[in-house]
Amino acid sequence: MKVIGSGSRTRLLASILMVCVVVFAAIQLIHPKLDNPPVTAELKAPPEVKRILKTSCYNCHSNETHLFWFDRVAPAYWIAASDVKEARKHLNFSEIEKLPAAQQSAILYEAISQIQLGGMPLKSYTLLHPEANVSPDDLAILKNYLHPTETSTPNPAAGTAADDQYEKWIHASAPTTNVQPTLNGIAYISGYQDWKIISTTDRFDNHTMRVIFGNDVAIKAIAENNIHPWPDGTIFAKGAWAQQVDENGDTKTGQFIQVEFMIKDHQKYASTEGWGFARWRGTDLKPYGKDAAFTSECTGCHKPVRENDYVYSFPLTGQQ
Ligand code: HEC
Ligand code: HEC
Repeated sequence: MKVIGSGSRTRLLASILMVCVVVFAAIQLIHPKLDNPPVTAELKAPPEVKRILKTSCYNCHSNETHLFWFDRVAPAYWIAASDVKEARKHLNFSEIEKLPAAQQSAILYEAISQIQLGGMPLKSYTLLHPEANVSPDDLAILKNYLHPTETSTPNPAAGTAADDQYEKWIHASAPTTNVQPTLNGIAYISGYQDWKIISTTDRFDNHTMRVIFGNDVAIKAIAENNIHPWPDGTIFAKGAWAQQVDENGDTKTGQFIQVEFMIKDHQKYASTEGWGFARWRGTDLKPYGKDAAFTSECTGCHKPVRENDYVYSFPLTGQQ
């Protein structure tokens, strides 16, 4: 029987180390290109807003990418190069100004939502670049830039009309027969007003209030903490109303804006991440979108929460 002596063990370790060094040196030669194209139409914004975006987003979402030394070493470099390429495709602050104003503010809204919800900057990035994290104060600056806080004036007459409408709506859970299906073929779901409320939110940018409802399957899944992924048959409804300020300065629901649904069926809706997306707008419940591709808006904006099966609302699961 042959025993490896300590001398040959050292030699073995040395050659393993040598192979590692050679491989590491060799992969440095694989260097996909990462240029900084000219800055043609940079975002116009106040300096404090630019400072935040430059610190936290520009390294991936602009034509002014500055790599740190540790980003220049493969394989980290490969990840950085592909992140930047992908990120510029979605949002490029160096070229955003050439878009129409409305589109710019929609993109900024999405950008700020991504920060608020913890989707951006990428976690894999902030691990090594902690300075890129956006502080709550900075987030407040961004929000205020997008939509300066307004003081709405109370309008008692509009309030009463909207109250009547809300009353009507909340009792309108009887089957509705004359509503057209959406362009991706989803039939209207009536009666969601009677489902359990999972959460309510108000959105900072356009002064709306939202109520999110879950059907029985959703509520059962929550109770059993079976939400990764949500079981087939789960349905969420999200109703949105304009915000109304009453005589006492309290905020409450005004005009009904829209209702949206997410219906889980991992097979039927495989092409849209396992969820059927549907939206009806206005009191006459008009199907939203100009063709079936409207769902790419929904999946695109729900993508930051793909770890939560594309669902934003965080229900409290289990016994509470
Ligand atoms: C390390 C690179 C990196 C940084 C830093 C980064 N992003 Fe991204 N971002 C990406 C990549 C990659 C994508 C596209 C893939 C994805 O959605 O995960 C993306 C996508 C997006 C999208 C589009 C989402 C969609 O699905 O359409 C928005 C909006 C966004 N980022 C905003 C921001 C904002 C705002 C910041 C700064 C606070 C930021 N990002 C910082 C890499 C980055
Ligand atoms: C601009 C980004 C954005 C777009 C576009 C979007 N959503 Fe959402 N959605 C959200 C956010 C954020 C929430 C979390 C609740 C809130 O803050 O209103 C949400 C919540 C929901 C919910 C409740 C379940 C959950 O995930 O919390 C449903 C249902 C829903 N959206 C349906 C849709 C449908 C249908 C579409 C496309 C017609 C769509 N959404 C497009 C951002 C978006």
